[in-house]
Amino acid sequence: MDQLDQLITEAQRAFSAAPDVNALEQAKARFLGKSGSVTELLKGLGKLDADARRTAGAEINRVKSAIEAALETRRDALRDAQLQAQLAAEALDVTLPGRGLRQGGIHPVNRTLERVETLFRSIGFEVADGPEIETDWHNFTALNTPDNHPARSMHDTFYLEGASEVLLRTHTSPVQIRTMQAHAAKYAGGAMPELRIIAPGRVYRVDSDATHSPMFHQVEGLWIGEQISFAGLKGVVIDFLQRFFETDEMQVRFRPSFFPFTEPSAEIDFAFMSGPNKGRWLEIAGCGMVHPKVLANGGIDADRYTGFAFGMGLDRLTMLRYGVNDLRLFFDNDVRFLRQFND
Ligand code: PHE
Repeated sequence: MDQLDQLITEAQRAFSAAPDVNALEQAKARFLGKSGSVTELLKGLGKLDADARRTAGAEINRVKSAIEAALETRRDALRDAQLQAQLAAEALDVTLPGRGLRQGGIHPVNRTLERVETLFRSIGFEVADGPEIETDWHNFTALNTPDNHPARSMHDTFYLEGASEVLLRTHTSPVQIRTMQAHAAKYAGGAMPELRIIAPGRVYRVDSDATHSPMFHQVEGLWIGEQISFAGLKGVVIDFLQRFFETDEMQVRFRPSFFPFTEPSAEIDFAFMSGPNKGRWLEIAGCGMVHPKVLANGGIDADRYTGFAFGMGLDRLTMLRYGVNDLRLFFDNDVRFLRQFND
């Protein structure tokens, strides 16, 4: 093999041996650089005569082109390899399972709330609403609760600093006043249709143990009309409880009690007659016939209309329905607890 062809082979070898683009550029310099072998050969041409120079020149150029082609081939190969390496390093496996957004669930107390709303709507009740920051008048005075009543003490109620007239409502009963007033205003001077509402929501008291929490949930019920009686109250409550717990195997007790805003008043106690919680009595509501003074404060003619009201503990209903023995679990936000209601 003549010397020139050998030069081509040598360049090809050097280029193939170059592991990366930098090494390849250095290898290139040895052949095509300022003092590279090919450049040196070209410089030698000047010493030859014209004929010889033409032949030698053509030969050297052939070698030069071959070396340049080898360089280009290797350069492409290296670039390609580099791209492949990069792609491999940054590979996304689109077949991997996604990271999975966990779906939230419905809080057990909200489940109860939804059931309560559905059941009462089915017998013609509407859902009403009122503010959690309530005026002293709506929460107490209008509900016939005198200034010296123990419920008004600092130990029982959260008052707002610097605002003596407002407090965190201690029950949903102020919604009675608000809805009566709105209803009375709406039908002023004409025939007043019956008022039938429930008002669920958060209420606040300075109280905390396994069955009491400083924030808890009540649902108020109110039915006002011309022939509304305590018998109607019992019917509505018992029917609701049977449908809510999906059983007739229960005892419901209307225990005489006192509330300033109802007369007569009763406490509703509930116990299952079978199942794991059999015989465990739990107080679930207060109720009674709306006091005439309360009707009057709501703008309703107490000579013509009567009504009943109840205030049920939604958290208590939830505890009974699911067999939860500590109310505070509802508000700890431990997902291990909450998840059980959403599988
Ligand atoms: N508001 C009373 C309470 O929170 C319950 C109640 C409501 C009693 C309506 C009678 C009528 O204890």
